[in-house]
Amino acid sequence: MNTKARKIILDCDPGHDDAVAIELAGKHPAIDLLGITVVSGNQTLDKTLNNALHLVQHLGLDVPVYAGCGIPMIRQSQVIADDIHGKSGLDGPVFSELEIEAEKEHAVQFIVETLRKSDGDITLVPTGPLTNIAMAMRLAPDIVPKIKEIVLMGGAYQLGNTTPVAEFNIYVDAEAAHVVFESGAPIVMMGLDLTRQALCYPSIVERMRKIDNKASKLFSDMMGFFNETQKRIFGWDGAPLHDPTCIAYLINPDCVETKDMRVKVEIRSENCYGQTICDFYNVNKEEPNAKVGVKLNTELFWDILEEGLRQYD
Ligand code: BDR
Ligand code: CA
Repeated sequence: MNTKARKIILDCDPGHDDAVAIELAGKHPAIDLLGITVVSGNQTLDKTLNNALHLVQHLGLDVPVYAGCGIPMIRQSQVIADDIHGKSGLDGPVFSELEIEAEKEHAVQFIVETLRKSDGDITLVPTGPLTNIAMAMRLAPDIVPKIKEIVLMGGAYQLGNTTPVAEFNIYVDAEAAHVVFESGAPIVMMGLDLTRQALCYPSIVERMRKIDNKASKLFSDMMGFFNETQKRIFGWDGAPLHDPTCIAYLINPDCVETKDMRVKVEIRSENCYGQTICDFYNVNKEEPNAKVGVKLNTELFWDILEEGLRQYD
C-alpha cells in the first residue's frame, strides 16, 4: 500500500453509484480502504449488505464489510429508492453465489474503535443516509476530533430529488444528517448540484466497457439498469454518478471546485424536511461548516474513474 494513500472508511448503501464508488476506492493506489460499513437506504439493510458483500467478492477485494443501522435514528418509516435501484437495490448484474460473510462487529462500533485507535488520519466517506455516522458520534463524542474529514454525498443547495427541496440521503434520516452537520467535524459535501454534472452518457459506458476487465464489465452491467431508471424518472440521457464523486475528489481534489458555506439541515418543517439550507452568499454571516461542491471537472472525473477501473484484472 502506498504510504501516502488516504485512509478511508466507506459508509454506503449499495446502490449502483455506491457500487461504482466501491470499485473506484477498492484498488486505487491513492486510497487505503480500511472497511466498508453498510446502512439501509437505497434498499433495506439485508439487501444493501448483501450487495456490498457481492461487490467485494466479485472484485476480489480484501476489505472487511460491517452491517450497520437498518432504521433511521428517529423517523419510524424507512424510505427506500427501489424505483431507481430495483428490487435488490443493485439490479442489473448477476453475481455468483456468496461465499464471504460480514464481520461480527457492528458498523458503528467499528467506526468508533477504528477512529479511537487512529492518529487522526482517517476520512469518513458516507454515500448513504448518515445514520451510522451520527450514531457513532452520539455513542462516542470523543471520536469527532479524530475525524480527519467527512467527504459525503448528500444534500443540494438548489433542487432536491426526493422532494422538491430534499436529496435522498439526507431525507431518509434528516436527524442523523443534522447531528453530522452540527458536529464540528470538517465536511466536504457533494450535493446534487455537483453530482448532476457527472452524467454517465452511453459514450462513457462504452469507453469504460472497452477496458474489458471484471470491474469494467460490472460497471457496464450496472449502468445499463441505472441509466434506464434515471431516464424514466428524471429524463436524463445519462445517470448522475453521485457517490463516486467523493472518491474521485479524494484521489485528486482538482476535479471538484468547492465553496465554503454554512449548511443547516431542516428537521422540523413538513414541506421542507431533509432540505440542506446552504448559505451560498453567506447572507447570515455565520461561520461556514462545509465545503460544498459547485463545479466538477468532468473530463478529469472520467479519467480518474477509468484509471480506477484499470487497476483490476
Ligand atoms: C443518493 O441517493 C442514492 O439513491 C444514491 O446512491 C446516492 O447516494 C443520490 O441522491
Ligand atoms: Ca448511495
